[in-house]
Amino acid sequence: MTGRRALVVFACATALLPIGAGGAAAETGYDLWLRYSPVGDAPRRDAYRLAATAIVVTGRSPASEATAAELRRGLTGLLGVDVPRIERPRASGAIIAGTPSNSPLIATLGWTDALARLGEEGYVLRSATVGGLRATVIASKGQAGAMYGAFHFLRLIQTGQPIDPLDIAEKPRLDRRLLDHWDNLDGSIERGYAGRSFFWPERVDDRIRDYARANASIGINGAVINSVNANPQSLTPPLLEKSAAIAAILRPYGIRVYLAANFAAPRMIGGLATNDPRDPAVARWWREKADEIYRLIPDFGGFVVKANSEGQPGPQDYGRTHADGANVLADAVAPHGGVVMWRAFVYNADVDPDRVKRAYAEFVPLDGAFRPNVFVQVKNGPLDFQPREPFHPLFGAMPKTSLVAELQITQEYLGQSTHLVYLAPMWKEFFDAETYAKGPGSPVATVLDGSVEGKRQTGIAGVANTGRDANWTGHDFGQANWYAFGRLAWNPALRAEDVADEWIRMTWGDAPDVVTTIRSIMRDSREAYVRYTMPLGLHHLIGGDHYAPMPENTDPRRADWSAPYYHHADATGIGFDRTRGGSRAVEQYRAPLREWWNAPATTPDELLLWFHHLPWDYRLKSGRTLWDELVFSYNRGVDEARGLEQRWRMLRGKIDDARYEAVLARLQRQSADASAWRDKCLRYFERARGSR
Ligand code: GCU
Repeated sequence: MTGRRALVVFACATALLPIGAGGAAAETGYDLWLRYSPVGDAPRRDAYRLAATAIVVTGRSPASEATAAELRRGLTGLLGVDVPRIERPRASGAIIAGTPSNSPLIATLGWTDALARLGEEGYVLRSATVGGLRATVIASKGQAGAMYGAFHFLRLIQTGQPIDPLDIAEKPRLDRRLLDHWDNLDGSIERGYAGRSFFWPERVDDRIRDYARANASIGINGAVINSVNANPQSLTPPLLEKSAAIAAILRPYGIRVYLAANFAAPRMIGGLATNDPRDPAVARWWREKADEIYRLIPDFGGFVVKANSEGQPGPQDYGRTHADGANVLADAVAPHGGVVMWRAFVYNADVDPDRVKRAYAEFVPLDGAFRPNVFVQVKNGPLDFQPREPFHPLFGAMPKTSLVAELQITQEYLGQSTHLVYLAPMWKEFFDAETYAKGPGSPVATVLDGSVEGKRQTGIAGVANTGRDANWTGHDFGQANWYAFGRLAWNPALRAEDVADEWIRMTWGDAPDVVTTIRSIMRDSREAYVRYTMPLGLHHLIGGDHYAPMPENTDPRRADWSAPYYHHADATGIGFDRTRGGSRAVEQYRAPLREWWNAPATTPDELLLWFHHLPWDYRLKSGRTLWDELVFSYNRGVDEARGLEQRWRMLRGKIDDARYEAVLARLQRQSADASAWRDKCLRYFERARGSR
């Protein structure tokens, strides 16, 4: 026992605190899902020890070194014995990882063509006989793929799966899998709830390497390291050097740096008289800036741009289109293989009275006008990361344009780092939503992965929830959303419950009651949150810091920042009429959705008040009136929030005390918030209903 404990300390030195009263070592959460704590089940551990006796990684590049180091760290921690790195297998049980070009052993296996089909990031994980000895081979065409395969192998052990025999082949469904950090250069983070930035302004430190490890373990291959509300200074030489230093740490882990660019940079830092994208001097400025960046960061991913949105400058300031703006930057990075992710988060009030229609109205006419290395980056829903929205109608409506989906991992409108809300079910709802872009069988995931419209460039971005907090995400369960984003970006077909299961086993342990309890909490959390905040398709009942519902909130600056703009609650009823008799937003969706959603009877209850303004005595499928259903939903949400807390209490003593207590405190606040929010919303709607 003592020996084992000592090994744990060796393997996870950053994370262990003194032993807590409950008997389990207290943890800070710093190690995320890469804790590599010893396999508890002795027969299983012994089988693993036989199948993993040594590591053979012959490559010497930084990526190979990182892969070897991770295998060593992981296997030593999990198996409780030193698993050495050696040059060639001497006994059975070698774990051989690499590519045909850096591993002579892998080169002799005759797998080169098969590996080529899986690409630089795909891999095989296979039991094989190598030089007469039983071994496990982790092989890829590229070094990133070998690393992803190594993490997959470790995950099998972390989640208690058999590792012999293995015959696995994987490749990502989406090519660019990015985290977007809304980090400001002063170290604050826009919509960040987990401490300050670990990119700015401090010096580059070890946390960035651990961030890279975590990302590589879930297949993230890009990071936008500054906020979309971009400070033009980020493109000046000292800050580009800082970005280059960050890129150097991320590179071995297969992660490229991208930067958010301010469209007014030519004037603001370049001294030009204009930012007009059709002006040759502006085009030259962007070209030279791109050349300068690529000299410092040869694998720079490209630019993300928020233009003509929420006060940001853009091409429309010069009477030009979004395509003109995107293309000038795209031409600058094209010679270097870079891309531009041009955001479609625009809602200029002159375009349409209904905010949710504006992006579609502006962007659909531009389909075909963007350079091939431009992605249009579209949020999952047409409003702004609400607890529930229909999918954004741009998905499936721009067949000639590459689209990147933007999801939000940081829970801006979903309880921030206080409420436990597992977001994978919400993202799955999005991926699985039928767009009917090419008739039935065209869910969003097939638009994203290019299969439905024959696109070659694919990608997805998640607005990160990380910061300098000890556990990275503030709430220990925020880690699950980071994890799930990466896993679903790799393969949107994964099931939310399966992703949760993996994460729980790696993060909290694999005792059956721990796994079952946490899984049920995660499964129910998002729907509970919707019910106690914005049930039945209500949205944007918000104000201030976007934490607590504020149905009463009016914002003098813009009608569409006010809650009543969306709920329209009065004596006649509640909801936003987006039918053909209302804002006609339904027409931005394809048939049959536009027909279904045009009528309340064929609109799912979850989206009812998104598309319809209905009288209070409207009768739902449940048989209840709209008012009664609203009361029922809020009450149910409150009960469910309490249920999350009660279920968590069953884990006392079964997990480490430090994390148990930290999560409990937040769940208590969550159930208190839920009932306060229910009371507040129902009081407000009750009054609106009574007003004559
Ligand atoms: C939301 C968020 C802003 C952010 C914006 C964006 O409105 O509240 O902080 O800048 O989205 O995505 O650009």
